[in-house]
Amino acid sequence: MRATAFRSFAKVNLHLQVVGRRGDGYHELRTVFQTIDLHDRITVELGGAGVELEVDDQRLSAGPENLACRAAVRFLEAFGGASGARLRLRKRIPVGGGLGGGSSNAATVLLAMRRLCGGPERLLDLWPVARELGADVPYFLFGGTALGVGRGDEVLPLPEIPEGDLWLVLPPFEVSTRLVFAELGEIAAAPLAPAVLALAQGEVPARAALLGGWNDLEAAALRCAPALRDLYDTLQASGLEWLRMSGSGATFLAEIDPQEVENVTSRLPVGTRLKRVRTMSRQTLWARREIAAGESGDGDH
Ligand code: C5P
Repeated sequence: MRATAFRSFAKVNLHLQVVGRRGDGYHELRTVFQTIDLHDRITVELGGAGVELEVDDQRLSAGPENLACRAAVRFLEAFGGASGARLRLRKRIPVGGGLGGGSSNAATVLLAMRRLCGGPERLLDLWPVARELGADVPYFLFGGTALGVGRGDEVLPLPEIPEGDLWLVLPPFEVSTRLVFAELGEIAAAPLAPAVLALAQGEVPARAALLGGWNDLEAAALRCAPALRDLYDTLQASGLEWLRMSGSGATFLAEIDPQEVENVTSRLPVGTRLKRVRTMSRQTLWARREIAAGESGDGDH
């Protein structure tokens, strides 16, 4: 049976603006996505009847509601090419962390199935299926530095910010995306952030942290989760050079002076981890996404 293994990379949101409420219950966004090198690994094998999933993380469902499963089912319905598929998911991206793990898994399954089934011909033909699966899924078909508009599902490539290191602050708890959006107060329509306009025009910052911008979901998430508020206050008092929540939380992005890393680590609440990651361009992503036959990928995160 034909099989392939893919790395399923996480994202961060370097900027996130909420500019309105939509008729479909979602919010209208302007967000800058960025791929990072933290990833899950997904093996896809065609054959059998229906879709089966094996996950190495007990906290996650391996049933049909798992986004990776749904992606395989929807792919076969839309494009055919096989009677079924076996999926194996090795989870490393924290769940519910605003890093898009589930959405990345769904997009990666679509890409792997396309590779194994030999179609659809255009990558863009996966887009309608991807956006049905979730607002963040289409971004993961493309990756790199990109602007998401609409629900975040209309994705336009931006000039790439040079690859570099970032710190993730990973709390041991999740924040519900749905609840964070529900917690937003009055929303004022606003033009695209000047920093994003400048980037689109080719004014590329030297590092992700220098992009400028903000995250409109940050205040709502801090109201939703008192533990996140406490963590935020601790981080603010730790002398970080840059701090921003990713997506709807609970992960924060940070820049930390190398000499301060130990000091920041010692102040973190029990269970919260610091992890250094690297941002990745589309070119690197495309070169590293598929795990070649004979390459275990075990040296990965
Ligand atoms: O699309 P996804 O299932 O990831 O979104 C989770 C929830 O987040 C949605 O059900 C919706 O309540 C909220 N959301 C939103 N506006 C967006 C994206 C998500 O209100 N643009």
